[in-house]
Amino acid sequence: MDAFDVVVIGGGPGGYVAAIRAAQLGLKTACVDDWQGADGKPALGGTCTNVGCIPSKALLQSSEYYEQAAHQFADHGVKIKGLDLDLGQMLKRKLGVVKASNDGVAYLFRKNKIQFFHGRGAFGKSPSEVIVGGQSLQAKHVIVATGSNPRALPGAPFDEKLVLSNTGALAMAEVPKRLGVIGAGVIGLEMGSVWRRLGAQVTILEALPAFLGAADEQIAREAAKIFAKQGLAIELGVTIANVTPGRKGVSVEYAAADKSAKTLECDRLIVSIGRVPNTQGLNAAAVGLKLDERGFVAVDGDCRTNLPNVWAIGDVVRGPMLAHKAEEEGVAVAERIVGQKPHVDFNTVPWVIYTTPEIAWVGETEQQLKARGADYRAGTFPFMANARARALGDAAGLVKFLADASTDRILGVHVIGPFAGELIAEAVVAMEFGAAAEDIGMICHAHPSLSEAMKDAALAVDKRAINV
Ligand code: FAD
Ligand code: NAI
Repeated sequence: MDAFDVVVIGGGPGGYVAAIRAAQLGLKTACVDDWQGADGKPALGGTCTNVGCIPSKALLQSSEYYEQAAHQFADHGVKIKGLDLDLGQMLKRKLGVVKASNDGVAYLFRKNKIQFFHGRGAFGKSPSEVIVGGQSLQAKHVIVATGSNPRALPGAPFDEKLVLSNTGALAMAEVPKRLGVIGAGVIGLEMGSVWRRLGAQVTILEALPAFLGAADEQIAREAAKIFAKQGLAIELGVTIANVTPGRKGVSVEYAAADKSAKTLECDRLIVSIGRVPNTQGLNAAAVGLKLDERGFVAVDGDCRTNLPNVWAIGDVVRGPMLAHKAEEEGVAVAERIVGQKPHVDFNTVPWVIYTTPEIAWVGETEQQLKARGADYRAGTFPFMANARARALGDAAGLVKFLADASTDRILGVHVIGPFAGELIAEAVVAMEFGAAAEDIGMICHAHPSLSEAMKDAALAVDKRAINV
C-alpha cells in the first residue's frame, strides 16, 4: 500500500495544477488519470488538452489562416494561386499540439516528483483510500477533479460518426457539405466557425430565444450580425423533436420559434448542448460523498465536500466549466490543505469565445446591472476607430466598460474584436485591484495597439474618449 499526503483523481487542468501546487508546498502527491491517447498511452491534461481547449484552438487557428488566405490576403496585396486545403495535415498538426501539451504535463509531474497512476480511480473502503488498477493508495487528502462529459440529446446517443460530441467534432476526416449543430453555445460557435471556414454550410439550432444569453446584450447583438454576415446560419427558439441518423446523414426534425414543423438534413451533426459532471465509477455513494441535485459533487465556497479531507474542483463542481476556473480552484485547495488562506474571486473569472472576432468579458453585463437596479455608466469604443485594428485589417467590434456611476469602480468589461481574449486580461487585473474606469484611462498604453481601445472605452465612461 502506498501512502500520500494528497491523491488527486483526474489529470485535467484542475487536477494536474492542484497536484503541482501540492507538490510545490512539500506534500507527497499522487495523481490518478485514465485518459488514453490514440497510441494507447497515457495522455495527461484531461478534456481541455485532449478534446477541448487545446485542439479546438489549434483548429480555430488553422482554419482562420485558411480563410484569411482565401479571402483577406488579397486585400493586403498578397495573392495566392492554387490555394488548397490539406485537412489531413491540419488534423495531424492539431494532434502534435495536443501531444506537446500531454508531454508538458508529464514533464511537470516528473519535475515536481508527483507519482502518476494511469487508470480509473475510485474510492475504496473509506474516503481516505483510492483504488487504481487493483492498487490501494492511502491519502490524507483526496481531491476529486474528474471533470465532465458531453450531454447527449435524449434518443440520439453520440456515435462520433454522424452524431458528434466535441470529440468527433474535432476529428472529422472530411469537411461535411452540410453541418448541423445543436446548441449555439461556446462549442457550437467555435466548432461551427472552424467547419464553416473550411467550406461546410453550417446551420446552428438553438433552443433559447436569445442569442448568447450569458454575454452582454449589445455584444451578443454585434456578434449575431457578424456571424450572420460570415454565413453561419443560427436559428433561435427551436424545439428539437427527433434526430434520426440515416445511412449517410442525419435528419433533425424540430419546431421553429413560430411553432412550424421543420426538418434539417445534414451530413454530420454536432450536439453541443452543455456538459454533465463526471462521477461515474468513483464509488461516491459507497463512501457517502454527497452530490447535488444536478449530479455535481456538492462543495462549499472553498471546494470542501461533505467528507472530511475530501475536496472537489473544476467541471465536476458548481460554477463555470472553464479550465482556468478549475486551475484556480486546484491551487486554492492545495494551499488550504497546508493551512493557507487563498481566495478565488468568481466575479473576475474571464470568459473568452475564440470565434472571429473573439468575444471576451469579465464581471457583470449591462442587463445584469439593469436587473439589480445598479446606477452605472457605460463607455464604448469601436475597433474601427483604432489604428492598429485598421492596420491589421481586423476592425470589427467594440470594447465596452461598465462602471459604478458614483465611484467609477469597474463593474464589467466586454470586448468583441481582435485578440479580445488577450485584451480582457487588463480588465481582470483592474477589477481585482478595484480600479476605476478612469484608472485605465490614465494609464499609458502603447501606440499603435489594440489595448488603446481599452483605454478609449474606459475614457468613454466619462465621455472623454480621444479617438471618437
Ligand atoms: P477535465 O479536463 O475533464 O479532466 C478530468 C480528467 O479526469 C480526465 O482526464 C478524465 O479522463 C479523468 N477522470 C475522470 N474520472 C476519473 C477517474 N475515476 N479516475 C481517473 N481519471 C478520471 N475551457 C476554457 O477555459 N477555455 C477554452 O478554450 C475551452 N475550450 C473548450 C473546448 C471544448 C471543445 C470543450 C469540450 C471544453 C472546453 N473548455 C474550455 C472547458 C474545459 O475543457 C474544462 O472546463 C476543463 O477541462 C475542466 O477541467 P477539469 O480538470 O475539471 O476536468
Ligand atoms: P454551452 O452551455 O456553452 O451551450 C449550450 C447551448 O445549447 C446553450 O445555448 C443552450 O441553450 C443550448 N441548448 C441546450 N439544450 C438544447 C436543446 N435541446 N436544443 C437546442 N439547444 C439547446 O455548452 P457547450 O457549448 O456544450 O460547451 C460546454 C462548456 O464547455 C461551456 O459551457 C464552456 O464552459 C466550455 N467551453 C468553453 C470554451 C471557451 O472557454 N472558449 C470553449 C468550449 C467549451
